[in-house]
Amino acid sequence: MKNCLICQTNIDVFMDFGQQPIANGFVTKEQFDDEYFFHMQTAFCPKCTMVQLIEQPDREKMFHENYAFFSSTSNYMVKHFAAFVEDMTSRQNLGTNSFAVEIGCNDGILSQNFVKAGIPHLGVEPSKNVAEIARSKGVNVTTEFFDKALAETAIKNYKKADAIFSANVMCHIPYMHSVFEGIKILLDENGIFAFEDPYLGDIIQKTSFDQIYDEHVFFFSAHSVSYLANMHGLELFDIAPQITHGGSMRYYIAHKDAKPLSQNVSKQLQFEKELGLDEGKTFTAFNAKIDKIKSDLITLLQKLHNEGKKVVAYGATSKSTTTANYFGITPELVQFVSDTTPIKQGKYTPGMHIPVVSHETFVASEPDYVLLFAWNHAKEIMENEAAYMKNRGAKWIMYIPQVEIVEA
Ligand code: SAH
Ligand code: TYD
Repeated sequence: MKNCLICQTNIDVFMDFGQQPIANGFVTKEQFDDEYFFHMQTAFCPKCTMVQLIEQPDREKMFHENYAFFSSTSNYMVKHFAAFVEDMTSRQNLGTNSFAVEIGCNDGILSQNFVKAGIPHLGVEPSKNVAEIARSKGVNVTTEFFDKALAETAIKNYKKADAIFSANVMCHIPYMHSVFEGIKILLDENGIFAFEDPYLGDIIQKTSFDQIYDEHVFFFSAHSVSYLANMHGLELFDIAPQITHGGSMRYYIAHKDAKPLSQNVSKQLQFEKELGLDEGKTFTAFNAKIDKIKSDLITLLQKLHNEGKKVVAYGATSKSTTTANYFGITPELVQFVSDTTPIKQGKYTPGMHIPVVSHETFVASEPDYVLLFAWNHAKEIMENEAAYMKNRGAKWIMYIPQVEIVEA
């Protein structure tokens, strides 16, 4: 029995993934024997409705100078973040007299838009290698973890923020109260804190269980975010669904009563009630669906292997670390994973040790089937690879929301 990280209520485990490695911890052969594993379990809090990991590895084990996730590998995401800055610029009239902060700016994919628009800003990014790339784009970055102490330093060195952005970062931070205390201090009285993360509603509707891995400690909904904001004298005043990362939600938060309350919030809360996101039994049903995907995918991969087909995978995502390890996808079933990120190439996937190769190797390899680990980028990837796949007569294997073979 554990206590909820948000409201301290006793919470029960609804899903046990067993021992899992660091999702972005790609390893060399020499590192096979001393890989780090942790017990990955998820729980639902019946009081504040937050879905969360029970145990999370120390943050320094995940976010460091060799962090393997580089945001700018997707052109679609580059456009998406430019649009996020435009959205907030029009809401807050951001300009040369404003101050914007981004929490978890990674390689500068979002903050580079502040540089282009001349908006004074601060990017907060603890992983040194990606922070360095952001700096090379002119982004003003501090290489630290965001929390209350950092917010206190930031108002001394700069001023209160008109806009605080964060994408795919809040869900990574277990010390959420320190973060919200920091937001409360740093946010100007008319400021907006807008953050987006994979949305619990999509995870349940699509059975996208692979959003669950070491870095993702929280799976947010309008219910849980609204509860959390209220605890800190803040308010969730608007909400906007996004198609990124297989279905995300953008949450707009302000000081209590500072901004008009949009009907989008009450509509979303109603939708979540209909979906059962406020009830424990929803998550038990989710479990059964994961096990169906597991048995369907392993049966298919085993069959193709027995038929002598060449099966490879596309996208060495963090998500696929959960899929491969929980399902037992070995290098026998999937010969390699293609990924454009140089730091991942030549290494092996965490836990299952499938080799990661370059896109050039993929093209030369002539596969029969390609398992799309980066299913959240399906549109972009399938368009880019359509001609190659057709010429080769290769087919895609999808597994979210269910296992299916898709013609190119
Ligand atoms: N915003 C980017 C990056 C997401 S990856 C995008 O959406 O693509 C998550 C990032 O959060 C990593 O770069 C990691 O180093 C960073 N991070 C983790 N904990 C953090 C914290 N407490 N404060 C700021 N950044 C953090
Ligand atoms: P992504 O699904 O964005 O993230 P996560 O790690 O959070 O699950 O990761 C996409 C991975 O796929 C990343 O390592 C880059 C790779 N990739 C390609 O190899 N080719 C592509 O065309 C795209 C879009 C991504």
